[in-house]
Amino acid sequence: MASSTLNLCCTIEGASAEQQAAMDLLGKQFLLPDERLAAITKEFRRRMEEGLAADGKVLKMIPSFVTWRPKGNETGSYFAIDLGGTNLRVLKVTLNGKGGVTTEHQKFTLTQEAKSRTLFDFIAQCVETFLDDRNLRPTGRQPPISIGFTFSYPVQQTSINSGILAQWTKGLNVPGCVGRDVVRLLQDALLRLGLRVKVAALVNDTVGTLLSAAYNDPSSQIGIIFGTGTNAAYYENVSNVAKWKGANPASGEMVLNMEWGAFDSDDFAFLPYTPHDIKLDRKSINPRKQAYEKMISGLYLGEVARNIILWLADQRLLFDGRSSEILNAMWSIDTSYLSSAAIDNTPDLSEIQQIIEKTLNVPTSTMVDRRIFKTIAVLVGERAARLSAVGVVATLTKRLELLSKKINIGIDGSMYEHFPGFKEILAETVSHFIPEDKFKNINFSLAKDGSGIGAAIVAMLATQTQ
Ligand code: GLC
Repeated sequence: MASSTLNLCCTIEGASAEQQAAMDLLGKQFLLPDERLAAITKEFRRRMEEGLAADGKVLKMIPSFVTWRPKGNETGSYFAIDLGGTNLRVLKVTLNGKGGVTTEHQKFTLTQEAKSRTLFDFIAQCVETFLDDRNLRPTGRQPPISIGFTFSYPVQQTSINSGILAQWTKGLNVPGCVGRDVVRLLQDALLRLGLRVKVAALVNDTVGTLLSAAYNDPSSQIGIIFGTGTNAAYYENVSNVAKWKGANPASGEMVLNMEWGAFDSDDFAFLPYTPHDIKLDRKSINPRKQAYEKMISGLYLGEVARNIILWLADQRLLFDGRSSEILNAMWSIDTSYLSSAAIDNTPDLSEIQQIIEKTLNVPTSTMVDRRIFKTIAVLVGERAARLSAVGVVATLTKRLELLSKKINIGIDGSMYEHFPGFKEILAETVSHFIPEDKFKNINFSLAKDGSGIGAAIVAMLATQTQ
């Protein structure tokens, strides 16, 4: 979908003049012209430089201590823990030596208690269950198992296997962890269970995604998550990282975890904030933080749409002014409903009718209501995809020299994988900002489950290079 054709998407068949005027306003707010994106990208680049120069900046540009690349011919089985916002996975990853992997994993849902108090004991118990169920628990005579720990939150790394939690993001907010070394917290919990498991690497999910993409394709330079949250990691020349005071690695390069979800959070000056975004931000658990992430990622888009829907309903422009208890509750619209709505091409928009009347319990909906609902889903998704391109373009132009030959970008996350049109709009938008002869060298690949796989690879590389 080219952005010019999307301008048509706000014309609602059968709408009253008032309904159409409201949709036109939304169109103006959500369909961002290329010039606007160019201005945001320029600022994004400036913020990257600022983060490379000093600590404590809005883009943290965190050194990951990963200074190697896998060759793709490594073999063996390695373990990882992948902590996301709602789930935890423990994995055994087997590298086949030809860039491919097989995984055996077990998924655990974080309990309320884990989320509010006992997170690290919970993780240790999951590791114990995984090992015991498979008879893999090392006995006193065996060497400890090395495990990679994917921790998808901003951590100021102090070594490959230590790092201080800077703040919680996305849905998690466990007290007593900010300011502490998360590996220490986990290692202590493992010790309490008497498990001979050593946390060999601490890895952000974007770093894991990049490393897993690199095992499969050595031209991989950037790893990105467009999922519940959003962020990216890339290989940078250490000589470009003025704030780096450590030793110069032999490879001369290091993966940086950008923590790009925080972009614009200090002054709220560049992103296209609408009243619907401001309302979400104010009521979120982290107001004035993760501004970019709140416009792009799965945790938030349903809520942006809900705010728009209520704004229309309150003016009697939608559902004849009616709402429901469910629709009135924050977070009641999951981003997956927007995915389903955006691709509903049935003649009577029956999928959307189901969402409105059954899932959200709004008594009835007209065809115009359903068309408006679909348009909101498309608008919110379109803005997310186009803004996502900003981060990608800023990162690519930072390393423009790499684009003279083929490069791969490994991407994972539900928005990228499942939101209709997201991938296409993202690539299309990037193509507007990168010269054609360079753009043709870029390959966007899905690095499915890369975060956990990559952590196992980093654990392997870390243990081999010690
Ligand atoms: C949030 C976290 C970041 C993570 C991203 C994607 O932005 O702060 O560390 O990489 O979500 O999961």
